[in-house]
Amino acid sequence: MAINLRGRSFLTLKDFTSREIAYLLDLSMDLKRKKRAGIKGDLLENKNVALIFEKSSTRTRCAFTVACIDEGAHPEFLGKNDIHLGKKEDVQDTARVLGRMFDGIQFRGFSQDLVEALAKHSGVPVWNGLTDAYHPTQILADFLTIQEAFGKLKGLKLVYIGDGRNNMANSLMIGAAKVGMHCTIAAPESLFPEASLVEEVRAIAAETGAKIVLESDPKKAVKDADAIYTDVWASMGEEDKVADRIALLTPYQVNSELMSATGNSETIFLHCLPANKGQEVTEEVFESSRSLVFDEAENRLHTIKAVMVATLGK
Ligand code: CP
Ligand code: NVA
Repeated sequence: MAINLRGRSFLTLKDFTSREIAYLLDLSMDLKRKKRAGIKGDLLENKNVALIFEKSSTRTRCAFTVACIDEGAHPEFLGKNDIHLGKKEDVQDTARVLGRMFDGIQFRGFSQDLVEALAKHSGVPVWNGLTDAYHPTQILADFLTIQEAFGKLKGLKLVYIGDGRNNMANSLMIGAAKVGMHCTIAAPESLFPEASLVEEVRAIAAETGAKIVLESDPKKAVKDADAIYTDVWASMGEEDKVADRIALLTPYQVNSELMSATGNSETIFLHCLPANKGQEVTEEVFESSRSLVFDEAENRLHTIKAVMVATLGK
């Protein structure tokens, strides 16, 4: 059956099948080729898109903005001090107003419940541009980058190392389980992902053949890794936890020694960015030929465009 995502929101990868994820990655590749060929599109012509940002952003904001303009839509940036959302007006009312004026809404902020409420009450597609719980558009860019490097996703071993409870760890586990990629979360036990999420993800993985492993020994975790992924040790909103996290996560830094511990000279390095070089990754690994972080950052544009075109486009 043909895939049709028209009218769907993109809130977590849990809501998407592996075929739908593969479809979004194929569409991303088509849109990337089109962009590289300098072809201007009209797939989002006459659409108005609201971009709500409670938290700051470089890649996500720019990717949504440029993707809209490339395909003929109008993006409207709404920063945290620009609208009443959650302060003078409850989410249901803001959602209903925005849904009357805009054709799609991107939300980046703290609460997953809030982005879900926006989707429920606005009546238009809502795209999650990062919450405390998940960062699903990032995963599409990560997987496109991995697919470009290895020609496949299924059966590869991805190791995420660092804060195993954050939005990136959660979303990578979900995405990997969906596409049949093995995923190891390397973290101290106190930062292992929520047991309920691990259970949910393992149930998905049982259908695709992915192995989901939690490991506190970093060297053991990275053995035979195809991709090593890390993220900041304290996410946006956790500024008070920086000192604790440095103490806990210093043994989990991605450095040349850890890259060598894979036993695989082809292992790639990924990071959603922004990076805190000298903490979760050394400058040496970040700048090495194994680091694909800027391809990954560029792929935010093509994958976010694919999400908007698939759910809202012609
Ligand atoms: N990776 C990512 O989401 O980057 P920004 O915070 O710059 O949007
Ligand atoms: N975990 C990070 C991801 C940034 C893209 C954060 O939430 O700040």
